[in-house]
Amino acid sequence: MNITLNNGITMPALGLGVFQSPPEETTAAVQSALSAGYRHIDTAAAYGNEREVGEGIRASGLPRQEVFIETKVWVSDYGYDQTLHAWEKATGKLGVDYLDLFILHQPAPDRFGQVIAAYKALETLLADGRVRAIGVSNFMPHHLEKLLEATDVVPAVNQIELHPYFSQAEVQAANARHGILTQAWSPIGGITFYPGWGEERRNVMEDPTLASIADKHGKSAAQVMLRWHLQEGRSAIPKSTNPARIAQNFDVFGFELDAEDLTAIDALDTGVRNGPDPDVIREDRFSMVIPEA
Ligand code: A2P
Repeated sequence: MNITLNNGITMPALGLGVFQSPPEETTAAVQSALSAGYRHIDTAAAYGNEREVGEGIRASGLPRQEVFIETKVWVSDYGYDQTLHAWEKATGKLGVDYLDLFILHQPAPDRFGQVIAAYKALETLLADGRVRAIGVSNFMPHHLEKLLEATDVVPAVNQIELHPYFSQAEVQAANARHGILTQAWSPIGGITFYPGWGEERRNVMEDPTLASIADKHGKSAAQVMLRWHLQEGRSAIPKSTNPARIAQNFDVFGFELDAEDLTAIDALDTGVRNGPDPDVIREDRFSMVIPEA
């Protein structure tokens, strides 16, 4: 299932996520995904596994143009020249000569001048054909407003934390208003159960409403959540390094949630963020240096 972005490029709606995939497991995960039918992989400079993503794609034997590759510029590479160089690093590690989608990983509001300069570099890369689409991640509506005022190309995608317990209706609405596709990170709520991300969080995978909808359709809670994203028009990038779960997460095209199911899932939103607040400056993270290719 493809989604057409605001510049006419098509992107497979469902992709494999590799956040927290250890580099030594990433090549195999990418190969599993491509053999299960995925044609979209989402990585990031900050994940430290772009090289292994590239290896997995090459090992699949698929032609480059059949796989949609999305990656992200890290904050320490913001600025015009730095972001042009970040493209060199990313493509060098991935072993490709163009990217399908290149996005800014964080709004980093304390250095918004550099954010704008980084985005202008993305516009240059787009104009040169070195990337096919550009976008952002973790941008709240106020960040989008500031970006749009200072730049020319409307982002194709805004990738945000989005699962049934945190569905960010106002961010989705702002994206839609501007013609920006909402892409869900932690689409099956991994952020609600990753160890070490804070205790006492409710695990969305164990939600009773999702369990009953899953039972009704003979599917898993993860499959129901992915179907929910797709039917509401979003892109989603579930992470797994387990071949059976990678395949399960792609087996979501043979059933349909009804309107009642969608409404019930929409009603699970708690309004509580699980991941980092995009307005909080995390200098220890932001200053992380991305190695050369
Ligand atoms: P694993 O890699 O061992 O499969 P998210 O993308 O929402 O952040 O979720 C990722 C988390 O969900 C990872 O911990 C992943 O573990 C786990 N996971 C992925 N797919 C499934 C699934 N179908 N059922 C249960 N857990 C899953």
